[in-house]
Amino acid sequence: MEHESSSYIDWRQVWNGMRKARIRPLRITYDKDFERHFLADQFAKDQSNNYEYGREVVKNLSGLLSSDFEVLEIGAGPGTLTIPLAGKVKMVTAMEISAKMVTALGKELGNKQVENVEVIKNDWMKVAEYKVKGKFDLVICSHFLWQVEDLELHLKKMENASRKFCAIIQPSGRDAVVRETYEAIVSHPYQGQFEPDADIFPYIILRQKGRLLNTSSIEYAIKRDRQQLARYVTSFIGRYIEVDKKVSEAIKEFVKKYLRNDFHIEQCKAMVMWWRIV
Ligand SMILES: C[S@@+](CC[C@H](N)C(=O)[O-])C[C@H]1O[C@@H](n2cnc3c(N)ncnc32)[C@H](O)[C@@H]1O
Repeated sequence: MEHESSSYIDWRQVWNGMRKARIRPLRITYDKDFERHFLADQFAKDQSNNYEYGREVVKNLSGLLSSDFEVLEIGAGPGTLTIPLAGKVKMVTAMEISAKMVTALGKELGNKQVENVEVIKNDWMKVAEYKVKGKFDLVICSHFLWQVEDLELHLKKMENASRKFCAIIQPSGRDAVVRETYEAIVSHPYQGQFEPDADIFPYIILRQKGRLLNTSSIEYAIKRDRQQLARYVTSFIGRYIEVDKKVSEAIKEFVKKYLRNDFHIEQCKAMVMWWRIV
């Protein structure tokens, strides 16, 4: 059964409104190297728990993964999922739009001697459908949905590129340290704009198209030191106010109380959704 989505649940208006509230430029003036440090933090986060997130996702998908699978991962980032996934399949094509991330991921794969991942610098939303039609056994994206303006097109493109399965992994909930630091520093009640939860949108869109999704959840933990935690929080707050030296010091001071033995452990959850190509 396929419904005309606009006459069923109108998710577009909600999606556009939510994206408008959260996709904002980052204003950070206290450290000209913030971007470089933050990039390194993303790799350090995966080292801190030995790719627990990716390992949990792979475990969760073990019923469908096969050693002869060719996989397309969209928005691979630091390889959080890519690296554990590569251990279970024949080949992963990791598509990533950021040139800096592509270089850093390539280096990480080299260091780890992972040879079955091909990193491609490309904008997924601009990839011509005929070029990837039915090329992969699994098309997967993790922590990617907020990057997408046109969710319906993204899902259609995922299905076009797959000959067997598609999967979406999306983290759920934002840690108290982010919410409470935002309220203290910005002096504004937190309105949920940093929540990563977006899994309901593909669920609604695909359900309206008659797809039956398999859903489950995973848990994992991320360890950060004080500097990493302050930068993590700053990456959200900097979308609402300029983070200059004074604000940066206030953030560093505020996050101190969340540390235990100099580290903060974030307990996280994520939704895992997969469906079969019909
Ligand atoms: C939040 S990160 C997620 C990284 C990783 N998949 C994970 O699970 O942690 C999203 C990644 O998608 C990349 N990205 C954003 N838009 C993209 C696009 N249109 N095509 C390919 N990659 C994109 C970003 O550069 C970023 O590295």
